Amino acid sequence: MSTRTPWGGRFSEAPDALVQRFTQSVSFDRRLAPFDIRQSIAHARMLGRTGILAQPDVDAIVRGLEQIGREVEAGTFAWSEALEDVHMNIEARLTELVGLAGARLHTARSRNDQVATSFRLWCKDAVRAVMAALDGLAVAILGQARSHVETLLPGYTHLQRAQPLRLAHHLLAWVEMLERDRGRFVDLLARVDECPLGSGALATTTHPIDREGVAHELGFSRPCRNSVDAVSSRDFALELLAACAIAMTNLSRIGEELVIWSSAEFGFVELSDAFATGSSIMPQKKNPDVPELVRGKTGRIVGDLVSLLVTVKGLPFAYDRDLQEDKEPVFDATDTLVACLGVLAGAIGSARFDAARMRAALEQGSVTATEAADYLVAKGVPFREAHAVVGALVARAVAQGTDLTALGAPVFRQAHPAFDDDVMSWLDPERAVERRDVLGGPARGRVLAALDEAEARLHERGDESSCTTSST
Ligand code: ARG
Repeated sequence: MSTRTPWGGRFSEAPDALVQRFTQSVSFDRRLAPFDIRQSIAHARMLGRTGILAQPDVDAIVRGLEQIGREVEAGTFAWSEALEDVHMNIEARLTELVGLAGARLHTARSRNDQVATSFRLWCKDAVRAVMAALDGLAVAILGQARSHVETLLPGYTHLQRAQPLRLAHHLLAWVEMLERDRGRFVDLLARVDECPLGSGALATTTHPIDREGVAHELGFSRPCRNSVDAVSSRDFALELLAACAIAMTNLSRIGEELVIWSSAEFGFVELSDAFATGSSIMPQKKNPDVPELVRGKTGRIVGDLVSLLVTVKGLPFAYDRDLQEDKEPVFDATDTLVACLGVLAGAIGSARFDAARMRAALEQGSVTATEAADYLVAKGVPFREAHAVVGALVARAVAQGTDLTALGAPVFRQAHPAFDDDVMSWLDPERAVERRDVLGGPARGRVLAALDEAEARLHERGDESSCTTSST
């Protein structure tokens, strides 16, 4: 009887303005529009194929939805908060455009399976964008690694100089981390990739629908198996957020290293002017705001994950309106992660690593003390005894304000009869690195092989992804 409310005859009063404002989701879920239109087209075609709707109605619906798609893309679509969400907005416009046929589209469908379907489609697309951005950063890092196979630096534990490394080896550690991050998205994609459509509000429908056909037309691997689960579950979004939070936590460590390394104290890297910022008061400053913000934005992505975890906790099956809170954290987390990956790729790709500063850092701090101990081990001295002998030599060097290398061979011989003059050559960082010719190690041959492997992997994926398209 009433036309003042979108809910039909049950209501005699339009929602209070406060309620309308409070319950609307169209201000943010309009991002689902292209996916909602796609699923509605697939749904309408299925209703035609199964004889649930007459073909002329289906044709009118598809035509209308295609026009709405163009309006949304052009930015001319008139969104209305009074129509609550993206789904009701599109349906209302469809009915405006094609009349009664539009009013038949919602046959055998509920917004509960509809929103879950559009959201899963959106997530699948976003996951692909994140994976491409992860690869983009890996490519930028690999470019630097390739140019710095011969660059040596001290590796650190406890942020104290530990043992020499090739810079390429250190950068390849970052690439390994990104590869695992990507793997998490690949893994979760399999669980996002199920189609809820046809589950209805919670108990499917009486109409003879074809769930498999719609699922495949929409590019899903399969329909969700259980209708109650299909409209209730958001663990696919939780997994996506968890993968974003882990990836972002990992990125924050790269950000932190760039911040530290670009300080005057380290001086290992200089960011390009295009990827650094100045100070409004101190003219000399060149600040690493990009890596700092990457580090800083980790908090909000972890917050996005926690926010949805708490929303979903304790929710009864099946759909509850709480679930409308699922989208904003996912949008925010994926947007933020993709932005961080892109800007970090630019910052790293254009940065200048300072091989001379790294080399200078290697000359201090007795970074090759382990070699001296290994030297004794090679002569049959038990490692613990060798460790103690070299430790005493280091203490002596420290007391003299110098390093192990400056002590000279006679002091070594004095400390242990197994030391010979050639021990001094063992203290050369280049030699120390080359002696670590072990799987996963920093010797030149190992690093070059690891680089080849990583480049080939990224190259192959680049070829694959250039064959597919993505739209967010
Ligand atoms: N805007 C809602 C959401 O994002 C759509 C589904 C609403 N379903 C309902 N029965 N009220 O979750």
